[in-house]
Amino acid sequence: MNPVTPLPLEEIIPFSYPSECTRKIASLFFAAFEQKLCAVFQGKEKGLDFVQQNLNPERIVPLFSGEELVGVMGLEFGGKTWIDPSWSQLWGFYAWKAFSVAFWGLPLMHRPDSKTLCIDSIAVHPLFRGRGAGSHLLEWAFAFAQKKDYRSVSLYVVHSNDKARKLYERLGFQVKKERHVPFPWSKRLGFSSAFLMERPV
Ligand SMILES: CC(C)(COP(=O)(O)OP(=O)(O)OC[C@H]1O[C@@H](n2cnc3c(N)ncnc32)[C@H](O)[C@@H]1OP(=O)(O)O)[C@@H](O)C(=O)NCCC(=O)NCCS
Repeated sequence: MNPVTPLPLEEIIPFSYPSECTRKIASLFFAAFEQKLCAVFQGKEKGLDFVQQNLNPERIVPLFSGEELVGVMGLEFGGKTWIDPSWSQLWGFYAWKAFSVAFWGLPLMHRPDSKTLCIDSIAVHPLFRGRGAGSHLLEWAFAFAQKKDYRSVSLYVVHSNDKARKLYERLGFQVKKERHVPFPWSKRLGFSSAFLMERPV
């Protein structure tokens, strides 16, 4: 078996990235969560445009290897998240379909308590997975949470994503509860339940 070479990673500079990276960030999220994001944002092309235009840099943690964007983490804290469009932004882009976006997005809404730093989404480029990038982003989140006096870090992982769940358990997360996603959302979003996992800091 070939040993896996760890990726050479740049120091993380949170909440800041060159503007030409916005499309790449949106694409990384879509590559990782395609079914869910296409279902909510009305298909890939439209969804990518909307996500790209509405990313909130203040909640985005990019990870580079050299010039290459290899991973990204979308955080939720202080009542804001990495993509949290206002109704007027939704209406301006989707017109009547804004109601459909709001409807299908309902199960993805959650508000962590004020003592918890929530990792809303984490994605590593498919070509660079399994080489430490995801762990690096998560370790950064633990240090950030500690510095900001959060009590814990939390995330949701869908019940079928055993690989990601194992990684989180290895890094100290424990399952706190299971959240069921009812029909018709389960069919359209592609999952019927997700685990809330938490790690004390
Ligand atoms: C989940 C995800 C973010 C993890 O990122 P990653 O960069 O692959 O994570 P890591 O490389 O740090 O860890 C993955 C595995 O590779 C192993 N690994 C990490 N660095 C390694 C290295 N240098 N050499 C060998 N193996 C390594 C880890 O031990 C880990 O193994 P485990 O699954 O047995 O715990 C990524 O796979 C991804 O984007 N998946 C699709 C989207 C997704 O599922 N997101 C999570 C939703 S909650």
